[in-house]
Amino acid sequence: MESVANIGLPDDYPYEYEEWITLKNARRVLLRPIKPSDRRLLVELLKRLSPQTIYRRFLSNVRQLPEEWLDRFTLLNYKSDFALVAATQESGEERIIAVCRYHYNIHTDNTEIAFVVQDDWQGLGLGTKIAGNVVNIARKNDIHQFEGMLDPTNEAVTKIFNHLGCSYKLTLKGGFFFILIDLDPCEQ
Ligand SMILES: CC(C)(COP(=O)(O)OP(=O)(O)OC[C@H]1O[C@@H](n2cnc3c(N)ncnc32)[C@H](O)[C@@H]1OP(=O)(O)O)[C@@H](O)C(=O)NCCC(=O)NCCS
Repeated sequence: MESVANIGLPDDYPYEYEEWITLKNARRVLLRPIKPSDRRLLVELLKRLSPQTIYRRFLSNVRQLPEEWLDRFTLLNYKSDFALVAATQESGEERIIAVCRYHYNIHTDNTEIAFVVQDDWQGLGLGTKIAGNVVNIARKNDIHQFEGMLDPTNEAVTKIFNHLGCSYKLTLKGGFFFILIDLDPCEQ
C-alpha cells in the first residue's frame, strides 16, 4: 500500500537518492529528495535555527518563508532544480534538520547552491555528506559548476569543499565572498 507520506509525489520523484547515513554522534538520519509536502517541515526548521545560521544561509535576517519561496523550495523538476533534505524522527514526528539545494538559472547559465544544517546537528559531518551527495547528483544532471555568496566569516563552507576535493575560487564582492566551485575534480 502507498504510504500517506508519498501521496502526491511527482511521478519522477527520484527515490534512488534516498540514503540512510550515520553521523559522528551515531545518530541515523535519512537523506532524501525534498517533497512538495515538506512546506510545513521547512517552516518548522527555520524556527529552530539560530540567528547566525539564518544569516549565513540567507545573508539576511529572514524570519518567515513567504509562500512563493516555499513553492520555489519544494516544487522541483529534480534535474535543473534539486534539493536533498536530512530527516529524523522525533517522538514519532518527522523533522527536517538539513537542506542542500541547487537551482539552475537559465537566464544566466549559472547554478546556485545553498545549504543549511540545524545548529545542534552541526559539526557531525552532515554538511559534508549532504553537499557531497548533491554534487554527485548535479554532475549526473550535467551541471559542472556551482556558485554562491558567503558571509566572509563562514569557514565551514570552504572546509566542506576542501573535504570533497572540489576546486573553488573566492572573490570579494560588496562585503561578501562570491564562491565559484568547479565540480569536475570533486571526489565521487
Ligand atoms: C555550513 C554548514 C552547512 C556546515 O554543516 P555541518 O554539518 O556543520 O558540516 P560538517 O559537520 O560536515 O563540518 C564541515 C566543517 O565545518 C566546520 N564547522 C561546522 N560548523 C562550524 C561553525 N559553526 N563554525 C566553524 N566551523 C564549523 C567543521 O568543524 C568541519 O571542519 P573540519 O572537518 O575541519 O573539522 C553549517 O555550518 C550551516 O548550516 N551554516 C549556516 C548556513 C550556511 O553557512 N550555509 C552555507 C551558505 S548557503
